[in-house]
Amino acid sequence: MRNRLSELTATVQDVSVVQLGILGCGTVGAELLALLDRQGTGIQARTGLEFAVAGVAVRDVGKSRPVALADGVLTDDARSLVARPDVDVVVELIGGVEPARSLVLEALQAGKPVVTANKELLAAVGAELFSAADAAGVDLVFEAAVAGGIPLVRPLRESLAGEDVRRVMGIVNGTTNYMLTRMTEEGASYADALAEAQALGYAESDPSADVEGSDAAAKAAIIASIAFGTEVVAEDVHCEGITELTPIDIAFASRLGYVVKLLAIVERSIDGGVAQVAARVHPAMVPETHPLASVRESFNAVFVEGAAVGELMFYGRGAGGGPTASAVLGDVIDAASNLRRGSHASIGTLTRVPIRSIDDLVSEYYINLEVADRPGVLAQVADVFGRNAVSIRSMEQEGLGEGARLIFITHLACERDVRRTLSRLGELDVVRSVGSVIRVAGEDDAAGG
Ligand code: NDP
Ligand code: HSE
Repeated sequence: MRNRLSELTATVQDVSVVQLGILGCGTVGAELLALLDRQGTGIQARTGLEFAVAGVAVRDVGKSRPVALADGVLTDDARSLVARPDVDVVVELIGGVEPARSLVLEALQAGKPVVTANKELLAAVGAELFSAADAAGVDLVFEAAVAGGIPLVRPLRESLAGEDVRRVMGIVNGTTNYMLTRMTEEGASYADALAEAQALGYAESDPSADVEGSDAAAKAAIIASIAFGTEVVAEDVHCEGITELTPIDIAFASRLGYVVKLLAIVERSIDGGVAQVAARVHPAMVPETHPLASVRESFNAVFVEGAAVGELMFYGRGAGGGPTASAVLGDVIDAASNLRRGSHASIGTLTRVPIRSIDDLVSEYYINLEVADRPGVLAQVADVFGRNAVSIRSMEQEGLGEGARLIFITHLACERDVRRTLSRLGELDVVRSVGSVIRVAGEDDAAGG
């Protein structure tokens, strides 16, 4: 690899090659360099494009790297690298909003296509960046930003451009899916499972983005934007992560025939002739028979439902350096081909439509209560459910010394009514604590509740 990368970087002055300015050489950046090294000759044979690495910007040039680069290629001056006249295509693999936003804007304004894997950036200021790309007539491509190595963005943008997409739902965070798999199947602790996901390169540099759901929410916002042609930002997405899940919930899910998964769900509907979008990320109890229940470890899976096409499923590795670098390299080739042809792909004009409140969601719910174990308690609890229009589908009781744990699964109920029920239950003397509340995906409901 050392030899091939040196050759690549040595061709930097050759005007016939496409010169890359790579920002970031962490988990994904280093794998991209390794992949360029392994695949460069084959790519050249297939596409006629030869890639050279003009420079790689990092924060700390003194850090040891798993890839060898020619002298002078590493720099800590990302801005100068972007501005270099010999850089044709910029690849942003730093993460976060700043300085990534400024660097991407500078590249686009200088007429350079940009490839990015940065979902946080796109979910925060995507509309601004897409306008800048269109104004400059160059590509801003981001296949790796959603579901890692799975081709999802391009199918949504291109293959399904004429489809009336109604709903997209799935597992889009590899870290939490890996953690939930380890916790469910091997009883691993939350802390151990997270440490393993970090060691495997799945987690964000700040893993709270994974476990608190904001990484999946950013992906949900991007998916909604391209699937529905509307501007959806991360703040529009109702977001709950896995930090409140307990081993008790995971064990009860198993006993009841479910698996707990962190789902991202975006839906488009028409209300009174007006289009609206709902977007949410939350843990859900998925029936063991549902296809999403068998999506394990860092794998992601995404269902797309369209009016004409019906249901499609995309499945593959959603995190990790190799799968993500594969998606980045595909985008690099696409952007370079378009640059050579003088064309670019546009995401089009994103309109803004009302966002439906989570309060209007209708789902089944798992509710875990700790109560006093004495006569009349169940009647009081059931009365609160009934008065607030939440119908109980099943109930299990487990003794807890002097108290008892009650596990309810409701029939379909409105989120607003469930929240009011929980609040009233919390006011009862006999209720010691209102524990986890998890939405339940229906057997036939690809929307996951
Ligand atoms: P890492 O944290 O592993 O790498 C980030 C890189 O950016 C490091 O090389 C770091 O330098 C460099 N960097 C940080 N700040 C600056 C700066 N101001 N100027 C120049 N370089 C800087 O992140 P990943 O490789 O995991 O992720 C990169 C992007 O890809 C993120 O947007 C992430 O969300 C996305 N992504 C990641 C996936 C994954 O599985 N890891 C999957 C899909 C997308 P240094 O090495 O010196 O610290
Ligand atoms: N941290 C992200 C995940 C990386 O675990 O899915 C892929 O976007």
